[in-house]
Amino acid sequence: MKIAIDGPAASGKSTLGEALARQLNYLYFDTGVMYRAITLAAIQRQIDLHDEIALTALAQQATIEVTPPSVNDGRQYTVWLDGVDVTWLLREPRIDVNVSIPSTYPGVREEMVRQQRWIADKGNVVMVGRDIGTVVLPDADLKIYLDATVEERAMRRHQESLRRGEISDYLSVLSAMRQRDLLDSSRESSPLQPALDAVIIDSTGRTSASIIAEVNQIIINRRAYVGMAASDSADDGDKTS
Ligand code: CDP
Repeated sequence: MKIAIDGPAASGKSTLGEALARQLNYLYFDTGVMYRAITLAAIQRQIDLHDEIALTALAQQATIEVTPPSVNDGRQYTVWLDGVDVTWLLREPRIDVNVSIPSTYPGVREEMVRQQRWIADKGNVVMVGRDIGTVVLPDADLKIYLDATVEERAMRRHQESLRRGEISDYLSVLSAMRQRDLLDSSRESSPLQPALDAVIIDSTGRTSASIIAEVNQIIINRRAYVGMAASDSADDGDKTS
């Protein structure tokens, strides 16, 4: 089974995705880290983020690997960029404010999508991002689109930063998030939008536990429905034989 979770920044995708993957014993894969890693690689190599050709070549050359946590410091996974642990560097504000630029380039996306499909082809997966239900896994068995008001999402990110002991200013986080929302949803190549067959959930004012419970119920209902459909067709087979 493949589960696709899409939505804007801080809508609760990673908390939901990780919880589902743990319960179902599926692979959890957060595709956002790949776009973040390409952005970091460009900054480190002093490549102009507006140079689409250079960024596309970089996406094709860079090796991004995501493994279970290599250090027990609260991370969900370890991200390796060309063999170097860059997990926390990917969360720096310089990445937040720039990541939506390389993400608009079709060549960058093509390479990321190719690698993401290869990962999903290995087996059961919960994949999280912006275009999973629409582009990466259009045949996913379940598609969830999580949303929340931009003010609440900015507050969540602001509090996450404070909890990590970082300096954070709510209004700056809010304005950066508005900018990223705009770029992600207005780009020509795979814009952020719900798939036609996605279940849309608004997480504003709700706890992650209640969202996880709601999605679990959707999975239970779907499994029951698929089971019923399978036993109906077995009955039909019995009648005709
Ligand atoms: O964690 P957060 O929701 O803030 O962002 P993320 O999932 O790490 O994604 C960072 C950025 O990567 C997004 O703002 C998009 O520009 C881009 N992205 C994308 O274009 N397609 C994806 N499947 C995942 C991320």
